[in-house]
Amino acid sequence: MTANRTVIRGGLVITASDEIHADVLVEDGRIAALAAHDSAAARSWDDAQVLDATGKYVIPGGVDAHTHMQLPFGGTFASDTFETGTRAAAWGGTTTIIDFAVQSVGQSLRGGLDAWHAKADAQCAIDYGFHMIVSDVNDHTLKEMDVLVQEGVTSFKMFMAYPGVFYSDDGQILRAMQRASVNGSLVMMHAENGIAIDVLVQQALAAGKTDPRYHGEVRHALLEAEATHRAIQLARVAGAPLYVVHVSAQEALAEITAARDLGLNVYGETCPQYLFLSTDNLAEPDFEGAKYVCSTPLRPREHQAALWRGLRTNDLQVVSTDHCPFCFSGQKELGRGDFSKIPNGLPGVENRMDLLHQAVVDGHITRRRWIEIACATPARMFGLYPRKGTLAPGADADVVIYDPHAEQVMSAETHHMNVDYSAYEGRRTTGRVETVLSRGVPVIDAGSYVGRTGHGQYLPRGTCQYLI
Ligand code: URP
Ligand code: ZN
Ligand code: ZN
Repeated sequence: MTANRTVIRGGLVITASDEIHADVLVEDGRIAALAAHDSAAARSWDDAQVLDATGKYVIPGGVDAHTHMQLPFGGTFASDTFETGTRAAAWGGTTTIIDFAVQSVGQSLRGGLDAWHAKADAQCAIDYGFHMIVSDVNDHTLKEMDVLVQEGVTSFKMFMAYPGVFYSDDGQILRAMQRASVNGSLVMMHAENGIAIDVLVQQALAAGKTDPRYHGEVRHALLEAEATHRAIQLARVAGAPLYVVHVSAQEALAEITAARDLGLNVYGETCPQYLFLSTDNLAEPDFEGAKYVCSTPLRPREHQAALWRGLRTNDLQVVSTDHCPFCFSGQKELGRGDFSKIPNGLPGVENRMDLLHQAVVDGHITRRRWIEIACATPARMFGLYPRKGTLAPGADADVVIYDPHAEQVMSAETHHMNVDYSAYEGRRTTGRVETVLSRGVPVIDAGSYVGRTGHGQYLPRGTCQYLI
């Protein structure tokens, strides 16, 4: 196979808007044309190399808009590097990630962004962009936001949680939102009332409640809902759009739904862990629950139905992974005897496309909605569409040939993420990635990794293309 001229023959092409039996011509890294099987146009591509997709789906590469490779957290670092994490993403049918560069307190945005460029440069197997975590809002930072937007970093994550680390108070958030309303960027909010949560953490520990399951109890659903409500009101005052990350509580989703019913530019993202896992996992004995410690936390099972409904009604628009892996051994174990010291985050960048395909099989969402929430809308939301997220002439040839009938069992034994456990250990799913092209170049070829460290390019992004 070469990158120059390839035809993907015989598959069912699925995008967010269409399902068509079509052949796909790839030329010089881009989609050149689509034509019905056996049409005169498709027959005229006989000189191209052929990838047979008979009986398979042909879908756009996944766009995971929320990953944390090498994130420093709780005295350690997320265990996937940009090299290992993007390779694992490709194995799972994701061809674009948007990771989070971090501004530490006292540092400039520029300093943080440069550091993240240095980590990712020449390391990635697939294309990548950056959001910027803003931890220190001041006059200088606010001016820097404008510069970063011009450089293609068009979204800024802020935290209402983690006082003393990433936390911003309401005044700081309002100022950043006001700036975003002028420079066209999108504020992404970690919506949890961290001040109240820290009180509950101290009370729980003082009462001897140290197990991982208390992580879920102190990070109360109402404190997610309260923060979500407050973030929405601050965004309204600022006249800025708002994207709420990793929504897990049905009460928080209700706040987003109410805002959207008012016609506001308020968006919500959820993650596979909230759709497939629950507080039952956090309560697993022998400290196993630590494997499921993330924030926002896993919720009781009842919340899952509300999240699925939100995905169907478009009150939630995006499913990202919030991939932030920490090994059980030596990393999650830092919190034995004190749940508040367990590094927060779950692995999942390799699992997202398969889990969401399973949701199609289970009847939660349609095939087109699968592509919409995992590929097209994240690309639109973060200024990458139609280069990414769809299969149309001119788009990057980020293409996945997906076998909808293959069976697999998720396991740390077989996954490619650099982490010693799977959050979905033993889970049987139907559907598997067979072949992955990134800008026309094979990364996964019939189930084998053929990619290259450094193939992935940095993606400067436009502003949000999803506003009403
Ligand atoms: O637990 C999580 N989500 N860890 C990653 C950092 C964040 O808040 O997204
Ligand atoms: Zn967060
Ligand atoms: Zn995150």
